[in-house]
Amino acid sequence: MVNGKVVLAYSGGLDTSVAIKWLQEKYNLEVVTLAVDLGQPGDMGAIKQKALDIGAKESYVTDTKEEFVKNFILPSLKANALYEGEYPLATALARPLIAKHLVEVAKKSDADFVAHGSTGKGNDQVRFEVSVASLDPSIKVIAPIREWSMTRDEAMEYAEEHGISVPTTKKSPYSVDENLWGRSCECGALEDPWEEPPEEAYSWTKSPIEVSDKAEFIEIDFIKGEPVGLNGQQMDTVSLIKELNKLGGAYGVGRIDMVENRLVGIKSREIYECPAAIILIKAHKELEALTLERDLSHFKSLLEHKYAELIYYGQWFSPLKKALDSFFEKTQEKVAGTVRIKLYKGSVAIVGRKSEESLYDRSLATYEAADSFSHESAKGFIELFGLPLKVWASRERKGNG
Ligand code: ARG
Repeated sequence: MVNGKVVLAYSGGLDTSVAIKWLQEKYNLEVVTLAVDLGQPGDMGAIKQKALDIGAKESYVTDTKEEFVKNFILPSLKANALYEGEYPLATALARPLIAKHLVEVAKKSDADFVAHGSTGKGNDQVRFEVSVASLDPSIKVIAPIREWSMTRDEAMEYAEEHGISVPTTKKSPYSVDENLWGRSCECGALEDPWEEPPEEAYSWTKSPIEVSDKAEFIEIDFIKGEPVGLNGQQMDTVSLIKELNKLGGAYGVGRIDMVENRLVGIKSREIYECPAAIILIKAHKELEALTLERDLSHFKSLLEHKYAELIYYGQWFSPLKKALDSFFEKTQEKVAGTVRIKLYKGSVAIVGRKSEESLYDRSLATYEAADSFSHESAKGFIELFGLPLKVWASRERKGNG
């Protein structure tokens, strides 16, 4: 007698493959798998078949690349979202989307449970479970890998006993997560924050030392804060991101090596490769510098920090996150134009920017004869900022005297 149905987020790897059998044996559940295509490498057809071979009742594959870009990556680009100022949140952005699809398949299949392959130490378990709870509090979540106490060898043994094909290549020491917005890599030699990451830990980017000595110049067009073209050619955003990952990777662009604060309280060392994200965020910020009014720009940057933190903490479906999205959307009305970028030996430099909405006025900025700025009125600023300080200073002197 089965006790119901579970929808398992399936990657095709050892852990989630073992989880199919384990959910059947331990919980007596019928298992439906869902593999989500977020632009990561891998043969989705083969993954679908593998789940069925292991004994999944049903095996779904969903291509979410467009949805991921439109509803997750672009809002986060508009917010220039970087956790702790560095990490473009590729893994964190994908989790609420996977959770949303798990919940949809659960509803469609009449399943009471969903399951994910996260461990008990990371952020992803929280992101999955908080997202599922926000979308449908009646669905229960099982986390097989967190619950079982199998080592990798035991998992391999379990797989062999149950006729699940096990990886034949030597296990990489790294834990890797990939999607369109970037590649996250941890464990192995990276666990020592004093050690420089070995070259083999990188996969999307060439070493900046190895790449060509020539610089590559590119131009990206934006409308309402969204990238719409590359080098004068209109492009859908999925293709544009793929192209920038390739191009940036070839110039050694997009490597990040950081120690970060996990939401579960642990500090961890991780490396990221995010050529497209780094290029796009930098270009987008630059266009904002040209087109956003000063107060709006300063206030927006305060909220960007909070927004990145919310995404990292798994609060994608929270009311605050939604409200911030409306704010950011409003700020993007005039963020349109073109940014010229130089890729050179691992660096991304903005070398030009132009916009019909530009607030830059050369006649105000110039130090040449064409200057139209009223130097007389500058005295007003000295009064404005100087007066309170004068009052304060004279008080201080009295106090000290
Ligand atoms: N530290 C990143 C985050 O919490 C990535 C986590 C997944 N990384 C991995 N290598 N499996 O968003």
